[in-house]
Amino acid sequence: MSDTGDGWQIARRRKGGRRSKTCQPCLSSACCPEPLDVSRVVRRVRSELRCEEFWDKWREQILVAGSSAPNPPESKDRDGEGNTDVPVSQQWECICYGLGSFSSSVSARYQLAMLLLLLDAKQISVKDCSVYDPVFTSGEIDVLRELGLTVLTDNEEGKRLSTRPTVFYLMHCGKALYNNLLWKNWSKKCLPLMKIIGNSFTSMKERTLEREFKRDYSYIALATAICQERRLPCPSRMVDVFSDTAVITFAAHSLNSLPQSTWTDPPEPEYHHVSDLEIIRGGN
Ligand SMILES: C[S@@+](CC[C@H](N)C(=O)[O-])C[C@H]1O[C@@H](n2cnc3c(N)ncnc32)[C@H](O)[C@@H]1O
Repeated sequence: MSDTGDGWQIARRRKGGRRSKTCQPCLSSACCPEPLDVSRVVRRVRSELRCEEFWDKWREQILVAGSSAPNPPESKDRDGEGNTDVPVSQQWECICYGLGSFSSSVSARYQLAMLLLLLDAKQISVKDCSVYDPVFTSGEIDVLRELGLTVLTDNEEGKRLSTRPTVFYLMHCGKALYNNLLWKNWSKKCLPLMKIIGNSFTSMKERTLEREFKRDYSYIALATAICQERRLPCPSRMVDVFSDTAVITFAAHSLNSLPQSTWTDPPEPEYHHVSDLEIIRGGN
């Protein structure tokens, strides 16, 4: 890992002034010799990751995962006139939750760089990738926008409905975020539209008491029985960044193995019994 940016901060826009193109060094005594231009560092890390052997495996697994799933029914054309090569239903989008504070965390910077590589590999335009983390600073939001990404402003608590094929990128996020995401998409129509790149559901199950897992994270517990998980490799020097990651998909035919009652009016998760929810809740 060559990222040496820790200890540096993003230049903030001066009040009433234009955004400074340069970055200011932080004033702590632990300061590095030159300022951190986060966009530049992220682009450099992206090039570094692209040369890694494990990236080839990630790319292959991510492209292959769920590829046997039938295409969802088409909605309308991009311009409503039929003038598009790719039907709307087959254009992928990406949602990234819980990236973390990438101006201060090397792991989050590597995860951001990996996100850019994934978008390339899946041919998803950066503007079709929305990112959200309640800890983002205004400087980080500026950097994300400079990279072309769409920054969400509402805390959805992961409750985002997939209306078209969507990659969800949730690296080392709280279980409630995954559970909420699954609940919102808990139907035979929506689950096959999702490709989740995040923590292995099998690992979560193994690490949590069975009774609590089924009670508090019932959608993840059910999902473990019907999803396909492909583990993504992680070099030992990057365990903090990419450990325990899998690409998770739902084949339409596997959903029939759950009883029909599972799909009827799935109750919204409430987490009454969870003392440490691991996620930041929205205002509602
Ligand atoms: C354990 S940290 C992981 C950070 C980073 N991905 C990493 O691996 O170092 C979990 C992240 O989830 C974020 N998070 C918490 N609640 C969230 C929410 N409602 N929506 C999106 N992200 C959330 C936290 O702010 C935090 O950055």
